Amino acid sequence: MSGEWWRNGVIYQIYPRSFQDSNDDGIGDLAGLRRQLDYLTWLGIDALWVSPFYPSPMADFGYDVADYCNVDPIFGSLEKFDRLVAEAHERRLKVIVDFVPNHSSIEHPWFQESRRSRADPKRDWYIWRDPAPGGGPPNNWISNFGGGAWTLDRDTGQYYHHAFLAEQPDLNWRNRQVRAAMHDVMRFWLARGVDGFRVDVIWHLMKDAALRDNPPNPAWTPDQPELERLAQAYSADQPEVQQIIAGLRRVVDEFDDRVLIGEIYLPIDRLVAYYGEGLKGVHLPFNFHLLQTPWRAPQVAALIQSYEAALPEGAWPNWVLGNHDRARIAARVGQAQARMAVMLLLTLRGTPTLYYGDEIGIGVVTIAPEQIRDPWAKREPGLGVGRDPARTPMQWDASNLAGFSTHEPWLPLTDDHRTRNVAVMRGDPTSILTLTRALLQYRRARPALAKGSWSLIDSNEDLLIYERREGDERLFVALNFGEAAQDWALPAELSGLEIALSTHGDRKGESVGSSLRLRPDEGVIFAPP
Ligand code: GLC
Repeated sequence: MSGEWWRNGVIYQIYPRSFQDSNDDGIGDLAGLRRQLDYLTWLGIDALWVSPFYPSPMADFGYDVADYCNVDPIFGSLEKFDRLVAEAHERRLKVIVDFVPNHSSIEHPWFQESRRSRADPKRDWYIWRDPAPGGGPPNNWISNFGGGAWTLDRDTGQYYHHAFLAEQPDLNWRNRQVRAAMHDVMRFWLARGVDGFRVDVIWHLMKDAALRDNPPNPAWTPDQPELERLAQAYSADQPEVQQIIAGLRRVVDEFDDRVLIGEIYLPIDRLVAYYGEGLKGVHLPFNFHLLQTPWRAPQVAALIQSYEAALPEGAWPNWVLGNHDRARIAARVGQAQARMAVMLLLTLRGTPTLYYGDEIGIGVVTIAPEQIRDPWAKREPGLGVGRDPARTPMQWDASNLAGFSTHEPWLPLTDDHRTRNVAVMRGDPTSILTLTRALLQYRRARPALAKGSWSLIDSNEDLLIYERREGDERLFVALNFGEAAQDWALPAELSGLEIALSTHGDRKGESVGSSLRLRPDEGVIFAPP
């Protein structure tokens, strides 16, 4: 059935700078990634999403694209990309690439032409405006990385808009030629065999036609990013973006069985709008709410229920536990709860996205001031917004540089990399890596997990217990968010069940009587034998 792979499968995000270096420059690349395909097969994921590898001055580490149809020499070449796709496909792994349509790099030839003169044919490809009547920027919008969202071009006397860095000018999606050019970029990669796109900041693509000022956000305090000083009423999530997305979807639908995923940070009621009219928007509007919800059983239970309830008829859910922009799960909730979080991610209803390194529990990494690379961290120091700790190299073995490179990596390793690495942890039956792999295998063998219904059985201050069911297949998941052991009395109709998997790596086959004991931070899957 069409769409089955991205509904039933598990996506694994790779930040290519940090996965595997093959040419000893301390930066990961496509050839290195290709070398690790056997690892991904062993782990048991179904699709990899590769963050940008396009030619870029790297002001925002590749999210500033200077050529949408090529590969930056740091990462390889188009030939290396083709080889990666071919070898992934030989292993039945799908390949999803990042698509960054909201903005290009300032060095993209389109912008270079656009800034030449007010009369340039490409002027309207970007968002240029005269200064405000008294001088200064055309409106009060703030960049996502702090500071104004407009930069004055002295030569032509106009400002251009950038939702992120000044090095990332926003494209004007109201312009038909921009849309056509970007659709062709998508076709370029689809024809090369990619299985889909993760679309960067898709909810930003359209801005208010009149570029009205954003209203103040009364809840803002100075310890929060400057962006949040204003409510994003006019700069993002505009109704017209839905037509733009429907256009992207039509391009994807020209090819067989590809997926369109949107990066969207919005409340649930707004997020689900991105499935689109008649489900003709993105297939999967990324659901980041696990990254934002307090890590307590009642809050997580409420989140799952409100998300499930908000899904439009026929819409397929998805869950994300980590990405290159947010604190690592193990850094946020600790090592013990990180194991439970993987069990949660891989047993919820909907497509899970696992972030590289979370399977080995990469946690807190100390970034010394001179090691800071993230432009956001540099622009808004002291707010804890830095993204470097979530982007450190994958740790493959116990050697000096963890098998990532032979050259000092672009970001540091964890202090415990000699033990926190794939080679050591794959031999340890109690490691988070062994647990993740066991969960992935279990999930693959159980239609109830891959596509069954989800229902809440019970929850309290510390426990969350739910059922997954597909036809006659039923299984149960019990998660202890607390630091104390818990005893849960089973409802009378549940009997004859046994433990299939524990986060602690033991108890398999233990029969569950009228009461289930969970140790601190323990999660278990239990089911009829
Ligand atoms: C997305 C990316 C982030 C990037 C931003 C601007 O949020 O995930 O890494 O900085 O877009 O492109």
